[in-house]
Amino acid sequence: MPEETLTITDNRTGKTYTVPLYKGTVRALELRHIKTDAEDFGLMTYDPAFLNTASCESSITFIDGDRGILEYRGYPIEDLAEHCTFLEVAYLIIHGELPTEEQYVEWKNGIGRHTLLHESTKKFMEGFRHDAHPMGMLVSTVAALSTVYPEAKEVHDPANRMRQMVRLIAKMPSLSAYSYRHAFGRYYVYPDNDLGYIENYMNMLWRRVEPKYVANPILARALDLLFTLHADHEQNCSTNVMRAVGSAMADPYLSVSAAASALSGPLHGGANQEVLEMLDLIGTKDNIPGYIQEVKEGRRKLMGFGHRVYKNYDPRARIVKRTAYEVFEVTGINPRLEIGMELERIALEDDYFVKRRLYPNVDFYSGIIFQAMGFRPDMFTVLFAIPRTVGWLAQWQEMLQDPEQKIARPRQIYTGSQRREVVARALRNSTPAVAMPSR
Ligand code: COA
Repeated sequence: MPEETLTITDNRTGKTYTVPLYKGTVRALELRHIKTDAEDFGLMTYDPAFLNTASCESSITFIDGDRGILEYRGYPIEDLAEHCTFLEVAYLIIHGELPTEEQYVEWKNGIGRHTLLHESTKKFMEGFRHDAHPMGMLVSTVAALSTVYPEAKEVHDPANRMRQMVRLIAKMPSLSAYSYRHAFGRYYVYPDNDLGYIENYMNMLWRRVEPKYVANPILARALDLLFTLHADHEQNCSTNVMRAVGSAMADPYLSVSAAASALSGPLHGGANQEVLEMLDLIGTKDNIPGYIQEVKEGRRKLMGFGHRVYKNYDPRARIVKRTAYEVFEVTGINPRLEIGMELERIALEDDYFVKRRLYPNVDFYSGIIFQAMGFRPDMFTVLFAIPRTVGWLAQWQEMLQDPEQKIARPRQIYTGSQRREVVARALRNSTPAVAMPSR
């Protein structure tokens, strides 16, 4: 057995150190032993944007970005998408195993018991401007739930923690549906717990005057499957935020709100809305070469392409693309699909994208389906946030149970001024980097 160590020679001092390896990594604290003298703080690692730093151990999601593999708790995403409902997958992600029939019924009913929003929360949502972005409404209202459930701050009590997790999984669709209907000035529809998780969500979104909402089974299955695909994705930007905020022992509503804020960004979950806007901007197939040229010149990005971890086709994108055709059987084809597919074809052959290993990610086709189902593009990221709440919560719980985790607090390399003295205001002479706006 080769020794699991590194030998490092510090050329500043000529000293040699033996550094143990831990599961294929170097523990950054080991490097602190490497010093020029007793006064020296010791070596740190420098890794802006975490390009090569593992921030935790996790048993939830496995990704092999080079081979395009995604697994939750050891199950390939393709199998879960084909054989399981989103609620089963949610159980798997939170509890580590797929539920038995009995566990599933208990889980489903437990979630069903928490779908209602407090009337004061409903009123709170009514206060948003008529044109409020649904993601802004979702982020703010999830945070506001912290005031409705103050006991949620007892994050070290496992039973209490599970109650809040179930509440959040149950209430995200309700919050999301209310933020959607708000934009149209429609009354809010109360949950109908005779219906399944997805069918009830569709009921809260789309019910008009019919006494009982009946979801189209193909659309309900497609939405269920899209939720499964979005449920977790290991240490992505928003999950990292969830763990970081949660590490300060903030309650789960505030932590989920922070994670959802990160998700709203166009480089993360906001990309699906950006893809649709890009496809609309391109307009026709004839404009694709010109658009690609602008991307190659660095003037634009091909939204829905590229990924920090996948350097191969995102396995979720493949499933989403297949699902698109099933949805179009019901809704009629979304003409943007043709432009999307042509963009993909050209990009996959073009040297710029091939060299950089840029492939379609999950957001490239999901927006096209969501739009065909009747969602406006500003809802797309909200649709991502509902299932990702499951992943955020599982990762949060794992972080709290990990004895090695502490409050997340990175180091820095200070590059500012050397120590100096304050000069009287009248004698100061400096120009601000950014001028104050005049109005
Ligand atoms: N369109 C055009 N070029 C892209 C690109 C895209 N979507 N994504 C990455 N690139 C290029 C970069 O310009 C860079 O080129 P360079 O080496 O000449 O400078 C190279 O590919 C590496 O990209 P980089 O930005 O370093 O990768 P990253 O890991 O930091 O970023 C993303 C990953 C996802 C943020 C990035 O690919 C992106 O912005 N994609 C579009 C947004 C999106 O779809 N996000 C959803 C992710 S699920």
